[in-house]
Amino acid sequence: MSESYDVAIIGAGPGGYVAAIRCAQLGMNTVCIDEWKNIKGKASLGGTCLNVGCIPSKALLESSENYYQAKYKFSHHGVMVDNVSADVPVMIARKDKIVNTFTAGIASLFKKNKVKSIHGKGTLLKRELSADTWIINVSDNGTTETIQAKHVILATGSNPRPLGFAPIDNEMILDNSGALALTEVPKRLGVIGAGVIGLEMGSVWRRLGAEVTILEAMPDFLMAVDEQVAKEARNIFTKEPGLKIHTGISIKSIQASEKTVVVNYSDSGNQAQTLEIDKLIVAIGRVPNTTGLGVEDNGLLLDERGFIVVDQYCRTNLTNVYAVGDVVRGPMLAHKASEEGVAVAEMIMHQEKNQSNENEAINFNTIPWVIYTSPEIAWVGKNEQELRAAGIAYKVGQFPFIANGRARAMGETSGFIKVLADEDTDRVLGIHMIGPHVSELISEAVMAMKFSASSQDIACIVHAHPSLSEVLHEAALGVDKRALHI
Ligand code: FAD
Ligand code: NAI
Repeated sequence: MSESYDVAIIGAGPGGYVAAIRCAQLGMNTVCIDEWKNIKGKASLGGTCLNVGCIPSKALLESSENYYQAKYKFSHHGVMVDNVSADVPVMIARKDKIVNTFTAGIASLFKKNKVKSIHGKGTLLKRELSADTWIINVSDNGTTETIQAKHVILATGSNPRPLGFAPIDNEMILDNSGALALTEVPKRLGVIGAGVIGLEMGSVWRRLGAEVTILEAMPDFLMAVDEQVAKEARNIFTKEPGLKIHTGISIKSIQASEKTVVVNYSDSGNQAQTLEIDKLIVAIGRVPNTTGLGVEDNGLLLDERGFIVVDQYCRTNLTNVYAVGDVVRGPMLAHKASEEGVAVAEMIMHQEKNQSNENEAINFNTIPWVIYTSPEIAWVGKNEQELRAAGIAYKVGQFPFIANGRARAMGETSGFIKVLADEDTDRVLGIHMIGPHVSELISEAVMAMKFSASSQDIACIVHAHPSLSEVLHEAALGVDKRALHI
C-alpha cells in the first residue's frame, strides 16, 4: 500500500518548499518531492534559487563589491589599503557555505513542520484509483516509489534556455551554474544576453578584474525596464572600466577550443564582428521545466511556450492539480513563486473546509523587480513607456541621489527615484529606482502600491534623516512640484 497524503508537491524551490511549509502549517499531511543534486551528488533542497540562483549570485556580488570598494573606492574615504587582492577560491567556498547552510535549513524547516521530504523525480500519473486520488511515481537511482495524494502542486521551475550554437559544457561555455563556480578570474569574459543574469554575473567578474563584453540581440538595453532608468544604467555601467555592451547583435557561430571561445556575430550595423574570449556565459532567458512530469499521459495542458497553463488562482486543467513559480506564466522570480505557493496552500485549505476562496488572485503589478548591479535597479508597477502605450495620463516626480545627504556621505551618488502617479487621482502607478541599496528601498514603494496609496500619501510620511529613503519622499513631493532639496 503506497503512502497517502493530503498534498503532494513536486519541486522544492521557493515555490514548492514554501507551499509545503504553508500546507503543513495549515494542518495538511504534506509531502515534497525534489530531484536536485548538488555538485557532490547529494540531495539539496531549495531549487534553482538556493543552489545556483538568487543566493549564490548575491554572495558573489557582495564579495566582488567588497573587493572593488577596497581596491578603488576606500581611498576616497581616506582609507588606504595596499596590495588588495581577490582570493577567488575563498569567495567560492564562502558562497558554497552559505548555500549549504540554507539548503540544509530547508531540510530542518521541513522536519520542524512535519513535511515529508522525498528525493527523486516525480511523475504525475493518470488518475487511476478514485476520483479524488492522484498517483505519483518517485524514481531515484533506479528504484521507484509510489505515493498517493488528493491535491498536487507542481513547482518544477525552469532551466536555462539553450543557444543552439553554444552547447554548455561549464568549462568554456557556461550557464548560471558554471558562471557561479569559476575558480579564477577570466581575463576576457563574453556574455550573451544583457538580461538580469548577464548583468549580475558580468558585474561579479568585471569587479574582480575581467574585461567583460556583453552581446545583446535586442536593439536597446534593458527593454523591459523604464527607458530613462535603462538609459541611466547603460551610461553608468559603461563608464566603469572593463565593461562593453553591444546591443542589436546577431550571433552567427561560436567555436570553443581548450583555451578560448570565438564568437562570430553581426553588429547593429550588420557588420561582421569577432569576439575572442577566455570564457563565455550564455544567459538568454529560461524555459519552464516539465520534463519527466508525465504530461504526455496525464493530460496536463501546456501553452505553446511550454508553460503549464493555469488560471489566476494557479489551477491547472486537471482537478486538484495546481502549478506555481517559474513553470507558469508571470515573472520568473523567487518571491513570485513563494507568493503563489502560499496562495495555493490557503486555497486548498479553504476548499477542504468547504469555505469560499477568500484569497485574491496574485497581483503581478505589485511584484517588485530588482537587478543587483552597482548601482542597483528596482521597480514596481508600470513604467513610462507602458503608461504611454496604455494611454494613461500620469504625473512624474523625480529626485536624484546626488542631492541626498546620506548618499553623499556614502559616496554613492549615482541614480534617481521616479514616482509615476495618475494625473487625475494621484494614485501611484509605478515607482522606478536606480541607485544605492534600492533593493531595500523598493519595499516602501511596493507597500504604497499594495495599499493603493497616492503620491501625496508617501509625501505625508516622515522619513528618517539622513537616509536614502528621503529620495523616495522627495520624488513623491516632486509629483506636485514641491520637492524641497532641489
Ligand atoms: P526552482 O527554484 O527552479 O525549483 C524547482 C525544483 O523542482 C528544482 O529543485 C528541481 O530540481 C525540481 N524538479 C523539477 N522537476 C522535478 C520532478 N519531476 N521531480 C522532482 N523534482 C523536480 N529570483 C529572484 O527573485 N531574485 C534573485 O535575486 C534571483 N536571482 C537569480 C539568479 C540566477 C543566476 C538565476 C538562474 C535565477 C535567479 N532568480 C532570482 C530566479 C529564481 O531563482 C527563480 O524564479 C525561482 O527559483 C523559481 O522558483 P521555483 O520554485 O518555481 O523553481
Ligand atoms: P532575461 O530574460 O532577463 O534576459 C535574457 C536576455 O538575452 C534578453 O535581453 C534577450 O533579449 C537576450 N537574448 C535572447 N536571445 C539572445 C541571442 N540569441 N543573442 C543575444 N541575446 C539574446 O534572462 P536571464 O538573464 O537568462 O535570466 C532569466 C530570468 O531569471 C530572469 O528573467 C529573471 O526572471 C530571473 N533572474 C532574476 C534575478 C533577480 O531577480 N535579480 C537575477 C537573475 C535571474
